[in-house]
Amino acid sequence: MTEKIVIGCDHGGFDLKEKIKEILADLSFEILDMGCFDTSSVHYPEIAQQVSKKIASGEFERGILICGTGIGMSIAANRFPKVRATMCHDHLTARLSREHNNSNILALGARTLGIETVKDILMTWLNTDFTGDRHLTRINMLDKTPSTPF
Ligand code: RB5
Repeated sequence: MTEKIVIGCDHGGFDLKEKIKEILADLSFEILDMGCFDTSSVHYPEIAQQVSKKIASGEFERGILICGTGIGMSIAANRFPKVRATMCHDHLTARLSREHNNSNILALGARTLGIETVKDILMTWLNTDFTGDRHLTRINMLDKTPSTPF
């Protein structure tokens, strides 16, 4: 299990971020919190950028981003190199996001998920290994895909 993790949220995800930090602290994770730090309105792309840069640089292997739905955070995070942010909504998507996609950022929706589902997703995502093999071929293809010009 990864021992350090970077986490961030917007105003919609603040309360859930605090709960997730308690769970991670109980599991002895070292947590870097990139904000936000209360429920005042902020812009999710700015928080996603802070967390994603920590993954892209290699300083952190795993991160968690929380907004109202998890959608904005996953869109924003996946613009950064080496980031594979996956919005998970149940046990299966959490497991497959690790086994097949080697997810390195878990995106969660605070307004769409109950706390028991969040706990299941979180523990599954933390404890499931990447399968590798044919899935590694596909992950490598992602890293070679340039941004689409427009
Ligand atoms: C903020 O109101 C909301 O748009 C944000 O938390 C998120 O759900 C965006 O995808």
